[in-house]
Amino acid sequence: MNEPVPVADRVDAAAAPVAAAPKKRVAIVGATGYSGAELTAIMARHHGVDLVALFSSSSTARGPVTPALPKLIAEPFTFEALIAARPEVVFLCTPNEVSAELAPKLLDAGMTVIDLSGAFRLEEPSMYPTWYGFEHENPKLLGEAVYGLTEYCNGELKKARLVANPGCYPTSILLALRPLNFAIDREQPVICDSKSGVSGAGKKADVNFSFAELFGNFKAYGVGNHRHEPEIRQQLHLGDRAPLVFVAHLLPVHRGILSTIHVGFTHAMSEQQITDAYARVYENAPFVRVLPAGQLPELKNVVNTPRAEIGFQLLQGGRRAVIVSVIDNLLKGAASQAVQNFNRMFDFAETEALI
Ligand SMILES: NC(=O)c1ccc[n+]([C@@H]2O[C@H](COP(=O)([O-])OP(=O)(O)OC[C@H]3O[C@@H](n4cnc5c(N)ncnc54)[C@H](OP(=O)(O)O)[C@@H]3O)[C@@H](O)[C@H]2O)c1
Repeated sequence: MNEPVPVADRVDAAAAPVAAAPKKRVAIVGATGYSGAELTAIMARHHGVDLVALFSSSSTARGPVTPALPKLIAEPFTFEALIAARPEVVFLCTPNEVSAELAPKLLDAGMTVIDLSGAFRLEEPSMYPTWYGFEHENPKLLGEAVYGLTEYCNGELKKARLVANPGCYPTSILLALRPLNFAIDREQPVICDSKSGVSGAGKKADVNFSFAELFGNFKAYGVGNHRHEPEIRQQLHLGDRAPLVFVAHLLPVHRGILSTIHVGFTHAMSEQQITDAYARVYENAPFVRVLPAGQLPELKNVVNTPRAEIGFQLLQGGRRAVIVSVIDNLLKGAASQAVQNFNRMFDFAETEALI
């Protein structure tokens, strides 16, 4: 498991002078998708970036990434066009299978890849057919990819050729649970009840995500077979046996994730112990805010921001807790976390282009 970044390193990273780093040539594949458009908007204001190419799927004509970004034009993707743009870094905001196929080719061409899909998040190749529906053709890259939960990454990001940006639900859950891992009782179920806005499913058309199905409605989905479950289990080091219940829900809102997490501890914990455990990891993390004991965060605190907020309430004399964690799925759950990773990789201030 990656260890939390020492506070001193984070302070240094946050204070790093922006102008010192040379500009990076960056391309974005999938720039017209929900997370890709967010990423494009952020990178367009990044002082250390030359945005050299933006791509949509090969079936789409040249046009704005979104109507809100009329000057940022995406072109139909071809590998030749991408190579011709000579990017040093490529962000993949593409479906899992597309990233799985593209990333190895880009690495072979000497580029650095930050992948927002799940194609390189699981360490065990045999899990891909079950959870993602395809055989992984590059198992070695699963061992090489750096899992980019930024607050838990250290020097490995600086050496990374391939970063697997975490899933949106896992980001909300792992930020809340990893600081408390040492005290979580693995004999009791860890229950993660997560609710996401509809943009979490991307812009593909599907009747389940249509306005008529969602407006005024609220429903659970993917129980027992959601592909974020093995990712959460892997990153919490729960193994196969420890009981983890992850239930995703669709909220009738555009964006945002709220995870309500129920955990038991091996021994009674005080509010101060929990507060200290979070502070050890997040004291100087620019995008994670832990609320005072007993205060619980709400979606509106973080929607349209790169921040995560975490709150907790102890129960049963400190032997259990309910923890609530909120993020914007398209930002901390995707695009802004990818930029945090990029900033760390290339010695920009972690907050560059994000605040
Ligand atoms: N949405 C979220 O909250 C979220 C959060 C974390 C991670 N992710 C992951 O991030 C990735 C993108 O998600 P999204 O929600 O942004 O998806 P999306 O809205 O469906 O957008 C997908 C993007 O990929 C492009 N694309 C599709 N097939 C392609 C191909 N063969 N070659 C080149 N480009 C192709 C699409 O182009 P067109 O516009 O031309 O179709 C579009 O720009 C997915 O792997 C998803 O699991 C999403």
